Amino acid sequence: MDAMDIVGGRRLEGRVRASGAKNAALPIMATSILAEGPIRLKNVPDLADIRTMSRLLAVLGVKVEREPGGDLVLNCTSTRKNEAPYRIMKTMRAGICVLGPLVARRTKVKVSLPGGCAIGDRPVDLHLKGLRALGANLDIRHGYIVGPGKRLRGAEMYLGGPFGSTVTGTANILMAAVVAKGVTVIDCAACEPEVQDLCRALVKMGAQIQGIGSPRLVVEGVERLTGCEHTVIPDRIEAGTLLLAGAATGGDVTVEGARWNDLFALVHTLREAGAEVEHFDDTIRVRARRRLKSVDVTTLPFPGFPTDLQAQMMATLTSADGISVITEKIFPDRFMHVAELGRMGARIRKEGNAAVVHGARHLSGAPVMASDLRASAALVIAGLVADGKTTVSRIYHLDRGYEKIEQKLGRLGAKIRRYRES
Ligand code: EPU
Repeated sequence: MDAMDIVGGRRLEGRVRASGAKNAALPIMATSILAEGPIRLKNVPDLADIRTMSRLLAVLGVKVEREPGGDLVLNCTSTRKNEAPYRIMKTMRAGICVLGPLVARRTKVKVSLPGGCAIGDRPVDLHLKGLRALGANLDIRHGYIVGPGKRLRGAEMYLGGPFGSTVTGTANILMAAVVAKGVTVIDCAACEPEVQDLCRALVKMGAQIQGIGSPRLVVEGVERLTGCEHTVIPDRIEAGTLLLAGAATGGDVTVEGARWNDLFALVHTLREAGAEVEHFDDTIRVRARRRLKSVDVTTLPFPGFPTDLQAQMMATLTSADGISVITEKIFPDRFMHVAELGRMGARIRKEGNAAVVHGARHLSGAPVMASDLRASAALVIAGLVADGKTTVSRIYHLDRGYEKIEQKLGRLGAKIRRYRES
């Protein structure tokens, strides 16, 4: 298992590029089950989750190839394979994105429920509600979603749940609705940029979708979808993490592949905290010339502040002046990083789905353990700020979502080293 040593206290400075968005690429890869022809994807990051999805699709009859130039080419060569096994699904929740395409294209489906998750409950009731509305008679048996597929009919549905809409649920239902007979109306659809990117890829394949980016998607089913070529959007969460690392270290960091329209909640929050933030085309520059001030943050579905940046924002606010309240409205238990940040000297009190961060703390390097992807990124930011050496172990969590993060941070002046733990 790899670990990472960070020697903190250095100001980050320079220019860096965000990779393609993992959470956009994963559902778009699943569209290969629907397409009659190859899907060529550009800007797909080289990450553990992408490799897991490739393995899952291979089991489902899709040939997946990474070309020397970096393009990912997916071609469905068998329409008989219909089982997404537990052994793969337990390692990555996003595997659930094959459910919609399988329901649309196979006469029978068997998809394992994904495994447990460190960030809290992750039910799939809304996925099932939407697919059932389209006529798929799905059931849960022995840990698998099973039932007949094909012969779907358009329907009207409402996807709002107790914590807002569902990102991968919207993706699943969309991927089934685009080839269902008739019109589907999805109300309270997720508006996240990753869902918009999926819509754009589906439209290139011949799908008819209106309302892209809005909470009402109207889909007119078509009989067949062709292959397509698509460039995946840049990763707003990676870009946001790099911007926060820049702000937390009092630095001056410019991130290419940081789209203002995808990141304005973070940008406004950083400005409120006293950082200077400018944006040009697809580039955002953050400068923190003074110590940051406290700021209250509430995570919400897009365009609100993303839950996937909550942990990194918390790490940044541990050294800001004043008391910040961070409220988590998407995953109320997503606070695994609080205890580890505490080991580094942060003073954070958890109260239900909120965390009260007493700022102006002087963090000191410590051995810490990564528990999930974004919590790991928060520990890296804390390590960059802290005095002395921080060792982050179990960084395979980080590798699920950040491509070459140590190289990127190194280029900005961080002292960071990855090595194999004995
Ligand atoms: N929910 C339900 N019922 C459902 C589905 C979701 O109640 O059927 C609830 C969830 O429990 C949660 C909320 O709705 O409280 C939102 O969950 P959502 O379904 O939107 O999450 P997801 O699709 O499973 C994606 C990202 C996550 C990101 C969330 C929220 C991918 C592959 N994953 O998950 O990314 O946190 O949306 O934006 O797109 C990450 O990258 O670190 C990550 C966890």
